[in-house]
Amino acid sequence: MNIIKAKTAGFCFGVDRGVKMTYDLLEKGHKVATLGPLIHNDQLVADLEAKGVITAANVDDVPDDYEVVIRCHGVPETIYDKINTRRLVCHDATCPFVSKIHKIAREASEKGAVLLVAGDKNHPEVQGIIGHTRGESYVFGSLDELKAWQGPEKPEKPVYAVAQTTFQVTKWLECSAFLKKSYTNALIFDTICNATWARQQEAEDLSQKCDLMVVIGGHHSSNTQKLVQVAARHTKAVSVETAADLDPEWFKGVQTVGVTAGASTPSPIIEEVLNSMSEEIRDDMSFEEMIEASMKPIFGGKVVKGVVTSISQNEIQVDIGTKHTGFVKLSELSDDPSAKPEDIVKIGDEIETYIVRVNDVEGYAELSKKRLDAVKVWEDIAEACENKTTLEGKVTEENKGGIVVNVKGVRVFVPASQSGQPRGADLSQMIGQTVSLRITEVNRARRRVVGSIRAVQYE
Ligand code: F3S
Repeated sequence: MNIIKAKTAGFCFGVDRGVKMTYDLLEKGHKVATLGPLIHNDQLVADLEAKGVITAANVDDVPDDYEVVIRCHGVPETIYDKINTRRLVCHDATCPFVSKIHKIAREASEKGAVLLVAGDKNHPEVQGIIGHTRGESYVFGSLDELKAWQGPEKPEKPVYAVAQTTFQVTKWLECSAFLKKSYTNALIFDTICNATWARQQEAEDLSQKCDLMVVIGGHHSSNTQKLVQVAARHTKAVSVETAADLDPEWFKGVQTVGVTAGASTPSPIIEEVLNSMSEEIRDDMSFEEMIEASMKPIFGGKVVKGVVTSISQNEIQVDIGTKHTGFVKLSELSDDPSAKPEDIVKIGDEIETYIVRVNDVEGYAELSKKRLDAVKVWEDIAEACENKTTLEGKVTEENKGGIVVNVKGVRVFVPASQSGQPRGADLSQMIGQTVSLRITEVNRARRRVVGSIRAVQYE
């Protein structure tokens, strides 16, 4: 029996980001509550709960000393208000692709438009989207339900249409074609996530080559169940949550099995299912290698201008004018570990960033402001050395022979003799002070910069 694993199987960018964010907080000793299960995967949620995470049904259930993680699906605006009223620390893991839809929903109400949402009205993502518009909205799950909608009272009233990120692509194409024909004033936004699209497309292709498709993922996971529906159009498709659900009967007489997994399925579960089934895995790349391979640095190394569209505690999002969602992690925003994103940039700021890597399949670009700033800072420091300009910095540590001053993120060594203090003085008392200094030596290759406070004082 041949087993073919889909290249796109498993965690998407948004889920991966939310899961990492939560485990990171736990590692740092934070007490964490998620609003609803973090992802639609019971095994991972059970692991988080075993590590102390509370799965809260609503904000009122979060204890005062816990921090809230908003899951990838996002939440309505009113939930943010409740979190703020309770003064809870909030970590927003709303997938950037979902945040984009929230923005469209808000714009729809500002423009007095009706918001149409293709999706499942009971799904938290859809409820979150609706919760970002203050105007009229309508959710439809099929072309028939869309046709049943009466349309705006006034024909000139604008219509905004979006889709749940995991909505079935073929259905969306039908519905958007109908909307284009029936409402000339309709603005249609293709908000189905590329990760979803890529997974559905691969499931469609793979299922045509296989006698059986095994789809791994939570039974409550909408994107997993869509994969089952897509695969079932061409072959027998079964859905499993873990290896324990595999039924040997399914494999009788089967030559080729296709395996795919929903975007919220952790890779260890995929591997466990494959190991249980495996006699021959045609594709010998590991899941991690495939993810790596899909992240081709097409624009890597380029510098782009973009506009800051949102700011959270851990990252900022930047519109770089392409179909990619650009984001800068806090660690790539500044060299100063105590800096807060909102002190560095504001929404609407135009900033220059360096592209670290691009993932075309899932439609995002990882950006860095720090790396670009570092290049500029080194240029500034070299110029300051040449022109004998006085710079300011904060003393961060005392070490053998002197002190270290942080100047625009660069470590400048000031020998004790240049510290401006009397010989034998306790230099540790300077830690935390802001000092003026002159750069006396720059060696970029060795990342060595030397400065003198004394030179400024002497003058
Ligand atoms: Fe986000 Fe797409 Fe995953 S919307 S959570 S990257 S399926």
